[in-house]
Amino acid sequence: MKRSQLFLIFIFFYLAPTQAAGCSISLNNDITEPQPLILTPQGGYGNDAFFLPSSGDRILLTDNQLVDIACPNGNVLVAGASLGSSTSQASTIPYHTARFTGNTCLTGYREIEIGFIVGSRFLTIMLLCFDQARQHTLYSQFNLTKTIGGYQTGYPRPSWLQGSGFFTVSGVDSLYTRNQQRITINRLLGLSDSSYQYIAETSDLYLARGHLTAKADFLFGAQHRATFYLVNAAPQWQTFNGRNWNNLEQDVRNYASRNAVDLVVYTGTHGVTTLLHSVTGAETELYLYVNGAARGIPVPRIFWKLVYDPVRKAGTVFIGVNNPYILNPSKDIICTNVCSQYSWLTWRATDVEDGYSYCCSVADFRRTVTTFPNLEVTQLL
Ligand SMILES: *[C@@H]1O[C@H](CO)[C@@H](O)[C@H](O)[C@H]1NC(C)=O
Repeated sequence: MKRSQLFLIFIFFYLAPTQAAGCSISLNNDITEPQPLILTPQGGYGNDAFFLPSSGDRILLTDNQLVDIACPNGNVLVAGASLGSSTSQASTIPYHTARFTGNTCLTGYREIEIGFIVGSRFLTIMLLCFDQARQHTLYSQFNLTKTIGGYQTGYPRPSWLQGSGFFTVSGVDSLYTRNQQRITINRLLGLSDSSYQYIAETSDLYLARGHLTAKADFLFGAQHRATFYLVNAAPQWQTFNGRNWNNLEQDVRNYASRNAVDLVVYTGTHGVTTLLHSVTGAETELYLYVNGAARGIPVPRIFWKLVYDPVRKAGTVFIGVNNPYILNPSKDIICTNVCSQYSWLTWRATDVEDGYSYCCSVADFRRTVTTFPNLEVTQLL
């Protein structure tokens, strides 16, 4: 943030008291780049730390409202600037950070937090559970705010980051490129390196870096950028990623907005998908990292999203099959479908290319998939 922009904010505040009505900031129209984090000075570590919009994408500030503005370039920042006063103090850079928390998750895996360091606070926006042996994330958790309808739309996508210390494989981003994944998958299946049988030359039949916690699941562009860590992604066919899974993400955000409910969301993967070997016909597991007998970065069999309302203790798991080539998805249906409960799902559930999709109770899902925390669930979402 440049000084001139900082002053603009001050001027706004100085004028406000005479009008006795405070002021408002539109996430889509009033925040310039590089954008600051707009924080509540009284603390909080997750969504509580951020000023949330009160109406649409508008953050409303009342007279004498205290607000922290933290800037991403390391220059002097404003903290605790109040209306009609110019108290300011330095803070540290709130560029996003991904790091091990030092805690374990599930049975001995390592927990990663992604968020912002602001002064002595770490503002957590995602918690992940990472399996270093298989180079993949078991789940990524975030809290979806009921104010998500006001998110900054069309915020540009940055490049993906590997972070440091998580993967033991180097160059993970390049393992995902279309050319590299084609070679890797074709060799696993006994095809020539240049075959387009599974990894198409140009269409959406290729493996994308599929977000676990989605970009648009957060209000601010600065938060959107923080989702682009490769530990927050898994290989996902783009046909599925861009269609049914994208629809599910939007539907869940709409559910939160429409019902004005804050949700806790876990997104993870399960199993390794297979295709038939071109010579032997054997079911062959797909990975993006293959080195001799070593395998890593599995192409998941299913993606799942557990959506939980902690107040009602209500939760449901939404599941999509990650393989546009399977003829019969029945062995990927691991629990009883309860999607008839939800009129708001817009996916084309039985379309295999779009990602065959269904819904289950948490208890039923847990009979097969146990790689998520044991939440207290008393009813469906
Ligand atoms: C997410 O929500 C849960 C349940 O309300 C809460 O316990 C947890 O602290 C929240 N996490 C963050 C990072 O805000």
